[in-house]
Amino acid sequence: MGLASIWKYLPFARWSVLRMGLGARTLFKDWQVGDGREAALERYVLANARQGNLDEAINAVDRFAYEKSFLINVGDEKGALLDAAIARAKPKLLLELGTYCGYSALRTMRAAPKDAKLVSIEFNADNAAIAQRILEHAGVADRVTIVNGTLGDGGKTVATLEREHGFGPGKLDFAFIDHAKEVYLPDLQLILRERWLRTGAVVVADNVKLPGAPEYHAFMKANEGTLFRTREHSTHVEYQSLLRDIVLESDYLGD
Ligand SMILES: C[S@@+](CC[C@H](N)C(=O)[O-])C[C@H]1O[C@@H](n2cnc3c(N)ncnc32)[C@H](O)[C@@H]1O
Repeated sequence: MGLASIWKYLPFARWSVLRMGLGARTLFKDWQVGDGREAALERYVLANARQGNLDEAINAVDRFAYEKSFLINVGDEKGALLDAAIARAKPKLLLELGTYCGYSALRTMRAAPKDAKLVSIEFNADNAAIAQRILEHAGVADRVTIVNGTLGDGGKTVATLEREHGFGPGKLDFAFIDHAKEVYLPDLQLILRERWLRTGAVVVADNVKLPGAPEYHAFMKANEGTLFRTREHSTHVEYQSLLRDIVLESDYLGD
């Protein structure tokens, strides 16, 4: 049994998981663990994946998360759900809320059609810079734009998306929501107000059970069959098989 398989079943025996738990307050305020692991990830990917090789970049991030330091990426198990939702939607324009180090953006670019464009919003400038360099190394930076901001900044980021990235009514085919759990619902409601989603667009939300986005979950239940049709994927928290999580995959039915 390799190290990764052991850590999968005994995640709390890992120092990097405990260290993250100790730094949880910092993590959910500043969105870096505080021990330099995000910068270490960048060095690891650049050293262990060949330039321009997307599969190797994704594998290197997963290896780092299993063998070096736990990361709050969507991870390989939930990442496969994201891949399948993207393959089903065949999107041209995608939005991601929460880039972190660019792992889900890498997966998104592998799963999406070759002419698809992803705009990923990240409010931590250090995370955005790390993700940018990893995406460049993997050879997909020309199809991904990281916007350093947040949808909740009073209109600035919304204006940037509409002015520079082709966002407008009915233009958005896919959204992946993976940022601060308490703003999942307000940010979805903003997207609905802006009418960006085309009928048939798909919205995927990570961490609906852990750490949990109960208001978002309740909204999808309340609007089942009218505004959205949702599949609930019962799965695990990233990079381990002990704690359970839920990913929601919601088809927009139009209004
Ligand atoms: C769980 S991580 C994203 C993981 C990434 N999607 C992946 O799977 O590789 C959450 C990220 O969202 C960012 N974030 C948190 N709240 C945000 C907000 N309101 N707007 C934009 N970014 C936010 C954090 O800085 C952090 O980098």
